[in-house]
Amino acid sequence: MTIDSQAFDSRAFRNALGCFATGIAVVTTVAPDGEPIGVTVNSFSSVSLDPPLVQFCLGRAAMSFEAFTTAPSFAVNILAEEQAELSNRFSRRDLQERWDGVGVERWDSGVPILTGCLASLECDREHVYDGGDHVIIVGRVRRLSGSEDGKPLLYFRGVYSKLP
Ligand SMILES: Cc1cc2nc3c(=O)[nH]c(=O)nc-3n(C[C@H](O)[C@H](O)[C@H](O)COP(=O)(O)O)c2cc1C
Repeated sequence: MTIDSQAFDSRAFRNALGCFATGIAVVTTVAPDGEPIGVTVNSFSSVSLDPPLVQFCLGRAAMSFEAFTTAPSFAVNILAEEQAELSNRFSRRDLQERWDGVGVERWDSGVPILTGCLASLECDREHVYDGGDHVIIVGRVRRLSGSEDGKPLLYFRGVYSKLP
């Protein structure tokens, strides 16, 4: 069944987008006052191999909007299947509890790198493009870590999923 663009509502739009299975990442940065910032996203993707570019989309209404669009660096932390709890806590409005008990390392830029992730990518912010009610943030990867094993946390039709 096809639905004309004049007729579909936001629920139909979200349902169609939810058919695209993704991984989940927590993107992190540091606010101007030094406060660590972390947000759950599933809009992450690779952009370019040479130069090494990646992107994610951030809602303009996000509390972290200013931090991500002004800080020189951010990190993308790709969650493993046992890290659904991290995805939940970094998508809640409660900023106080987000970092309680979370293992963090700092590399070159000082942005928080979450421990235990499948991979982490430390990036310099390269571009911020308009994306409707979101912005598209493109970063150049400067340093990374990745594990050879471990399975990803997946997101499909609005619920977490795992590889069989
Ligand atoms: C699985 C999942 C994926 C999400 N993906 C995105 C995303 O790609 N971009 C975005 O802006 N928000 C995304 N969100 C919502 C943010 O995590 C949520 O709005 C968060 O509270 C924003 O934090 P902030 O307001 O402190 O910046 C996602 C949430 C979940 C649970």
